[in-house]
Amino acid sequence: MIRKHLFTALMLTLSTHALSDDYTQELYDIYCSGCHAVSASNAPQAFSADWAPIVQRKGLNTLVTNAVRGAGNMPPMGTCSECTIDDLRDIILYMTEAK
Ligand code: HEC
Repeated sequence: MIRKHLFTALMLTLSTHALSDDYTQELYDIYCSGCHAVSASNAPQAFSADWAPIVQRKGLNTLVTNAVRGAGNMPPMGTCSECTIDDLRDIILYMTEAK
């Protein structure tokens, strides 16, 4: 029983850490920053207040689904064909955080 709790605590620590690990940042830099860090693209800008209302209105799961399918001028998978759905979710959590 105690073991199980320790394991759960460890997993929580690991998954929180995974949100902005180097791999996530690298994927963001390569595949997403070309639009999400260029305001002329009309994409919601990474790390800005653009995201708060979108996240609030749609929720994370819808954002992930829309990123997979594409939305408006946003290409399917954000052009990241090597990304898994979990990778996309991690990137979205990373870039929707205002800095
Ligand atoms: C070619 C430009 C482009 C690239 C590359 C791109 N995006 Fe986007 N993205 C957009 C645009 C434009 C929108 C706004 C779409 C709209 O609402 O019409 C958008 C919107 C989004 C949204 C919000 C969808 C919604 O439902 O409001 C998410 C989430 C997102 N992008 C994630 C990503 C991720 C993750 C990557 C990298 C893997 C990425 N994007 C790469 C242009 C891009």
